[in-house]
Amino acid sequence: MKPMLNVALPKGRIGEKVYAMFEAAGLECPSIRENNRKLIFENPDVGVRYFWVKPSDVAIYVERGAADIGVAGKDILLEYEPDIYELYDLDIGKCRMAVAAKEDFRDNPQKTLKVATKFTNIAKQYYTSLGRDIDIIHLNGSIEIAPILGLSDVIVDIVETGTTLKENHLTVFETIVPISARLIANKSSFKFKNEAIESIVKKLSEIGADTAK
Ligand code: PRP
Repeated sequence: MKPMLNVALPKGRIGEKVYAMFEAAGLECPSIRENNRKLIFENPDVGVRYFWVKPSDVAIYVERGAADIGVAGKDILLEYEPDIYELYDLDIGKCRMAVAAKEDFRDNPQKTLKVATKFTNIAKQYYTSLGRDIDIIHLNGSIEIAPILGLSDVIVDIVETGTTLKENHLTVFETIVPISARLIANKSSFKFKNEAIESIVKKLSEIGADTAK
């Protein structure tokens, strides 16, 4: 029997695309397409076991070896800096990390800038690189409300289509970094299951992101 490759998939729309790419790469697992609430699916014939996990938790499963490989957003990798290998840019789930504020916002460099974000590490690193003093306000969601209510001057958040900002009369002032989904590997799995992992990277790069679009 083939050794199983344990794959953490991000639950949701991106995860569906990722599974379609893995399926096209030969790691099919038909039971995953059945409509049920199971979280673990395996196909011993091709040697794969998939788990659906919360997108922001994929890197934890991979870092600790509960999954050999997984797919995580670059935002999560930059924010939490997990000790994993980043193997491949899947070129899906594309968006950007940006600084946004009310359309009439004008920065006053004499004052400490109040920054609301879920991504405190990314925001701190960005403003440190600019030598700008900031007061970080950590929020868990609906970040766009912060500047509207005067809780912060700006936000650091993910912008995909820009619709959320537009509908709340906010606008992008700076792009910090482009984001997309990345294939990541546990460091020891990469050594001990190298052939299987390298083979999936090769196949995914041959297939390209179009399979999932
Ligand atoms: C993200 C982000 C924005 C929105 C941007 O939230 O925080 O609110 O998407 O997308 P848009 O530019 O296409 O409007 P997400 O839906 O990931 O959930 P969250 O509220 O947990 O951050």
